[in-house]
Amino acid sequence: MAANKIVVANWKMNLSLGGSAKLAKEVADAFVGFDKGEVAVCPNFLSLLEVNKILQDSIVKVGAQDVFWEGYGAYTGEVCPEMLAEAGCKYVIVGHSERRKYFNANYELIHKQIKAVVENKKLIPIICVGENWDERKTNKRDQVLLEQIQQSFSGIVLERDQQVIVAYEPIWAIGSGTALEPEEAEYAHKFIKMGLNVIFGSDVAENNFRVIYGGSINPGNVDGFVGMDGLDGLLVGGASLHADEFHRVADIILSK
Ligand code: PGA
Repeated sequence: MAANKIVVANWKMNLSLGGSAKLAKEVADAFVGFDKGEVAVCPNFLSLLEVNKILQDSIVKVGAQDVFWEGYGAYTGEVCPEMLAEAGCKYVIVGHSERRKYFNANYELIHKQIKAVVENKKLIPIICVGENWDERKTNKRDQVLLEQIQQSFSGIVLERDQQVIVAYEPIWAIGSGTALEPEEAEYAHKFIKMGLNVIFGSDVAENNFRVIYGGSINPGNVDGFVGMDGLDGLLVGGASLHADEFHRVADIILSK
């Protein structure tokens, strides 16, 4: 049985500790009595503990925005899966395109991160894939997605029912104000599922994986994604910085 639909907020590096705590309180208030699907927010590392404390009685859970692939050790500046789990995280984003753009994270490194998170077993990884504008323009999207899926997941062994989320985020749609047409997202989601079928077999692909969409989702365009075939949820950036907008997006997509 596939898991619930999920809506995840990616707060990126937009908020201070105080700003994160304030938004977490607003989110906690907005989601009082909410009982549909799964909801999570991903604050910066420094704010995780505080945000987790504020949301401890809420349906809204906490995730991190990145993770290192080694365990405890001499790795200056890094944070390992066990530390995130200890801080109360349930999810962790891996391979966001901004990590790829600014930190040269490639799929070889991303594969190590996924492996570490999967082997640690305490966090659900949210792995971002997606083509850039040039790749889209030159009809390379499918090829790029397939490569990203293969490089991310080949050799990864999942336990029975261990959950993994793939976020399809066309890079050109992120922060642009314009989401992908739902029909195109539907195609890409099917294509990603096909790739997962090839690597893991259809039982695992169906049972262990959710595929969510991210890129300029807001209350004004989310209706178009309701009822989209193969959509297991959303990853929301800009709109998630306003508790009411984030709540609205979650309410609309998780109600159906
Ligand atoms: P956006 O960000 O909703 O602001 O486009 C999405 C993301 O980067 O995850």
